[in-house]
Amino acid sequence: MPASAQRKILVTSALPYANGSLHLGHLLEQVQTDIWVRFQKSRGHHCLYVCADDAHGTAIMLTAEKLGITPEQQIENIKREHMRDSAGFLIGFDNFHTTHSEENRFWSETIYQRLKDNDHIASRAITQAFDPEKQLFLADRFIKGTCPRCKTADQYGDNCEACGATYSPTDLIDPVSAISGAKPIEKESIHFFFKLPEFEGMLKEWLASDTLQPQVANKLREWTDAGLQEWDISRDAPYFGFEIPGEPGKYFYVWLDAPIGYIASFQNYCDRTGHPFDEYWQRGGDTELYHFIGKDIINFHGLFWPAMLQSAGLRAPSAIYAHGFLTVNGTKMSKSRGTFIKASTYLEHLDAQYLRYYFAAKLSGSVDDIDLNLEDFVQRVNSDVVGKVVNIASRCAGFLRNKFDNTLSDRCSEATMVESFIEAGEAIAQLYEQREFNKAIREIIALADRANQYIDEKKPWALAKQEGAAQEVHDVCSVGINLFRVLMTYLKPVLPAMAEKSEAFLQCSLDWTALQSPLVAHALAEFQPLLTRIDPKQVAAMIEASKETQAEAAPPAEKTKTKTKKAKPAAATAPADTIEFDDFAKIDLRIAEIVAAEDVEGADKLLRLTLNLGEHGDQKQVFAGIKSAYQPEALVGKLTVMVANLAPRKMRFGVSEGMVLAAGPGDEEIFLLEPHAGAKPGMQVK
Ligand code: MSP
Ligand code: ZN
Repeated sequence: MPASAQRKILVTSALPYANGSLHLGHLLEQVQTDIWVRFQKSRGHHCLYVCADDAHGTAIMLTAEKLGITPEQQIENIKREHMRDSAGFLIGFDNFHTTHSEENRFWSETIYQRLKDNDHIASRAITQAFDPEKQLFLADRFIKGTCPRCKTADQYGDNCEACGATYSPTDLIDPVSAISGAKPIEKESIHFFFKLPEFEGMLKEWLASDTLQPQVANKLREWTDAGLQEWDISRDAPYFGFEIPGEPGKYFYVWLDAPIGYIASFQNYCDRTGHPFDEYWQRGGDTELYHFIGKDIINFHGLFWPAMLQSAGLRAPSAIYAHGFLTVNGTKMSKSRGTFIKASTYLEHLDAQYLRYYFAAKLSGSVDDIDLNLEDFVQRVNSDVVGKVVNIASRCAGFLRNKFDNTLSDRCSEATMVESFIEAGEAIAQLYEQREFNKAIREIIALADRANQYIDEKKPWALAKQEGAAQEVHDVCSVGINLFRVLMTYLKPVLPAMAEKSEAFLQCSLDWTALQSPLVAHALAEFQPLLTRIDPKQVAAMIEASKETQAEAAPPAEKTKTKTKKAKPAAATAPADTIEFDDFAKIDLRIAEIVAAEDVEGADKLLRLTLNLGEHGDQKQVFAGIKSAYQPEALVGKLTVMVANLAPRKMRFGVSEGMVLAAGPGDEEIFLLEPHAGAKPGMQVK
């Protein structure tokens, strides 16, 4: 490719929050981005992919507190975990940084200062809910209470999960702080605002410019049509983030410094490698900038971010590519069904490339949701990748090794067929460029079908038995390998590890730019198995491992005005190995009698237990994951040890008011206490 045609591209995917593990939804985004980046690289462009952890905010502070570690430790642990999981999915970041970094502090302060100098920052006092016990201002989602409409208890401050009503936390009946349980009071403090309304003209132009997907532009127009509001970019201490220069006790809101994290990560990359920085962020340069994001965060990227960049004198993104949400088997990922699958859990059971392929086969340029149907997943990967693509190589490789010294024929008998495969590459490249991966895959698999048909018709296995047909066997298998080489070139962005093995076998590079003419009289290396079939048992094991019986309550994510998602997975980081005696002494263990036990609809492992705690305690309802070991009837009358002072937890199925203790390896062997004359319900266990 002539140097003049080489594009200089910078690509990002959204910065995952540092308060939880990556799950397959995050991977949908990273895989989409990574395929696009690898495609650009394969086409000979200069393309860099940077990302980072989004490390700031109240949620991260609270998660760290819960785990008994500092926020710095928490974000470091999670960063290591995130990088490991992304690498497991073959995500080829050129740089993965964190928003809690000096580069990001520098750029946040610099951009803020420019906004201020341009008179785009306002300040005024506002009144907010305040937790008098925790001494903390409470965002809506940290306030809970009874829904004013349907009267369901324990609802978040912004909307009701039971009836879907949306309201402001002041409408809640008996509101409490979700953090301490205290009754919130109203308190005033000074906040800083970004004057978004001043950018109305510029944003309207940007929304009309075709830079955004039509669905995204439409959604954002609802905001501009409704009249833009000033955006609150500050938070009061205590907050984990960057203090605003000159404003003690005031911090940048996490969503101010999060997108700046893109710049900071790139700065970090440039400092490490000597790559030029300025040309990527100054206005009017010849570089391109793309942000891949989920549809839940388009307002931040499609309104606030371009306006901030404009005020700061920095370039606007060339485009923002939003994708839809991942569902599993047609519904929202669910912990109880085992479809809330963490990236690490997936990798313990399955090869990353299976999912990369499946995502590619479903992803398009639109913001429609993507469903991972697990049956279809197994069937599709096995049939397309193993049954069709790998098959071409494995059918031909044996003959070439055994009869032709692992060398391709010195002529290409079907040069036109191979050339037509190469020619199809331009259309496929267009589809990749437009993120129409599903269509690209369809084209590629149609070619694979043609290649297999060719081999089926020629029947090298039959020819091999015929006298005088050796040349034809050699030619047919050499054509087959050439077709395979073209197909693997097209699939390399999706299946990088399989492409690498293929490169080793084919002894050539599988880049788009290397694809000009057929390989003739070319020596091959030993054929290695490229990818094995998915065994549905592996999928079943992954689902089983993902099932959680106790809903993990994690602080909800730092997002405003977007209702698409709620609870985040709790941090996987283990707290310290030992607890202090004081911690132990806090646990009130009691003998409890199981007076009723019943199945819970929609939960495979859970039983709903009604426990009698004797004359002092009342009856308590507890959900316990012991169904694998007990028929509910068999439990009635048994005694168990219960953590009686565990704070009640709201689960999908109702409130669990404690925990029962049982010993055993799990599955069918979980042991409870047999009734004993001396053991009375309510008795304290010491
Ligand atoms: N920290 C912010 C992004 C800041 S970008 C300057 C955030 N983090 S997140 O961890 O909640 O999400 C990271 C990305 O993953 C977002 O683009 C989000 O849309 C995407 N996804 C999270 N769950 C998802 C699915 N279930 N499906 C598809 N994408 C999902 O938002
Ligand atoms: Zn309600």
